[in-house]
Amino acid sequence: MGERLQAFYTLSIQEPEQFWSKEAESIYWHEPFKQVLDYSRPPFAKWFVGGKTNICYNAIDRHLKDRANQAALVFVSTETQQEKIYSFSQLHHEVNVMASIMRELGVKKGDRVVIYMPMIPEALFAMYACTRIGAVHSVVFGGFAAHSLAARIDDAKPQLMITADAGSRGGKVVPYKPLVDEACQKASFPPEHVLIINRGLDPNRTVIKQRDVNYGDIKEKHLNAQVNCEWVDSEHPSYILYTSGTTGKPKGVQRDTGGYLVAMSASIQHIYCGNAGETFFTTSDIGWVVGHSYIVYGPLISGMTTVVYEGLPIRPDPGIWWDVVNKYQVSIMFSSPTAIRVLRKQDPIYLDKNKTRSLRYLFLAGEPLDEPTAQWITQSLNIPVVDNYWQTETGWPILSAMLGVDNTPRKFGSPSFPVYGYNVQLINESTGEPAKDNEKGLLAVIPPLPPGCLSTIWGDDERFVKTYFSTFKDKYIYSTFDWGVRDTDGYYFILGRTDDVINVAGHRLGTREIEEAISSHHNVVEVAVVGVNDPIKGQKPFAFVVSKDNAYAKSKADRTQLENELFQTVDQLLGAIARPARVFFVSILPKTRSGKLLRRSIQALAEGRDPGDLTTLDDPTALESIKESLMQ
Ligand code: PRX
Repeated sequence: MGERLQAFYTLSIQEPEQFWSKEAESIYWHEPFKQVLDYSRPPFAKWFVGGKTNICYNAIDRHLKDRANQAALVFVSTETQQEKIYSFSQLHHEVNVMASIMRELGVKKGDRVVIYMPMIPEALFAMYACTRIGAVHSVVFGGFAAHSLAARIDDAKPQLMITADAGSRGGKVVPYKPLVDEACQKASFPPEHVLIINRGLDPNRTVIKQRDVNYGDIKEKHLNAQVNCEWVDSEHPSYILYTSGTTGKPKGVQRDTGGYLVAMSASIQHIYCGNAGETFFTTSDIGWVVGHSYIVYGPLISGMTTVVYEGLPIRPDPGIWWDVVNKYQVSIMFSSPTAIRVLRKQDPIYLDKNKTRSLRYLFLAGEPLDEPTAQWITQSLNIPVVDNYWQTETGWPILSAMLGVDNTPRKFGSPSFPVYGYNVQLINESTGEPAKDNEKGLLAVIPPLPPGCLSTIWGDDERFVKTYFSTFKDKYIYSTFDWGVRDTDGYYFILGRTDDVINVAGHRLGTREIEEAISSHHNVVEVAVVGVNDPIKGQKPFAFVVSKDNAYAKSKADRTQLENELFQTVDQLLGAIARPARVFFVSILPKTRSGKLLRRSIQALAEGRDPGDLTTLDDPTALESIKESLMQ
């Protein structure tokens, strides 16, 4: 860490109030805060207490003075062949209309709105409209199945749900409406209304009278609507975003308002090196945290243009993202290692350097960035490529280079250093003491967590404390559930999760959720799901199943049939995104004598590694069964 960065970081840890009150100057406060940090109830941190502000105002309204005609949102769909630019003033209009519709449908400050949408501008209008009126959005990724959607509906208990008739993937229409109908039927707390953006993709769309509202129709009445921003307390929840953990029940990460605004603005400046007036292109989806922070909110809060891209990275050809960069003169791009690995496999002709001249930086996050991929893309683009490490819970980077502060050299394979505001510690698992250089430890953060991180788990303070702050008995320490190591130069390296979460193509999946889905099949007695190395996706899920009638899975045809049935079960309950790559049938699963599944040993065998310490193994034949199944 250079001297300048060291000083910046040290100030943030030793004088957090001084540090963050300066950062908070970049935000419009309708009423100034009276206290920077209230940490009187650890581990709950309240930032900018007494301040009143509004996220939508900071992202849109306040730019109208200087940037009314500047592009705010560029929409590119290679699925429906649409391209459309919304200036700040046009976006302001659309968001007012959406907010007014929401009001008519009964949404009030503090009410939840579930957004289940493809990557279309209306999805962002809906998100901004929620924060405009102080409603709490909960965006559910469009690839999730009805069962998962219903579980999120029941946890959030929304007043309104917003969806579209369909999404599209690789040119294939994916109807959303039937999923939404099924989810509402399954849910105990379905919303009163469902607002539907009809894209004309699904001619068979059905309408449920009284409940369904067609956006195109209701919009007519609201075209001149002006909806004032609701000035909310800094700690007012802005959104809930569900994420997977160790248990089968997803957690609703709750984000505040003031802290998030300040964190977004500071990160765009210090980490992402963005300037007002420039264009930011994040290739994620609004259903994920990267989409929330760096498609929807961060860029606009900082007066930048954001690109909303619907489509695949290789369609119509693998040069499409570079075409977008060229056409819209993108300065900052943010993507995932998996996407870059996919592009690396294509003909190099598609990465035409003439098309990427406007790019100043590429940021990659969500999963480990392997050295060959980092090297290839750095050489191809000839710009700094910055690996940044964070989580849904934190909302912005925990580890990263901060090139807006200091131009420190990067090391391949490392997301560099702890970011300002995060008192990062690597903790030796057995001693509970700080790990030495080059010694593997649990990556932890000494609270208070900085602004923008989760304030709690929606509706469950106890689970928040128990899940994240209870690894060590006598003190509150935030656990990331990742292993890490620091070298003698102070660079950190992430070594993988400590829990049962796996990372498939940058998407976080809980193995327990997949196991629960598979177990619901009538022919399954027991199942273990593990993440196994994959050259493109980072990891892929493998399922090891003990079937009810062992003989049933004896022949290859039987196994294939049951495997297909299990794929369908997972598709129906969780969505194709969670589908295992393979299902293997075994007679018994390896467990400890106390009955704990030895997932790590199974994973090691599936990756051709040594299964490790087996002293606690209950039945040694279980490992043979795994080995045999892998050879089937
Ligand atoms: O295991 C770490 C991995 O992804 C997890 C968080 O995933 P999610 O909640 O979806 O948030 C993604 C936000 C970028 C982490 O606990 N992870 C994330 N970034 C990196 C990473 N692993 C290695 N290197 C990274 N840069």
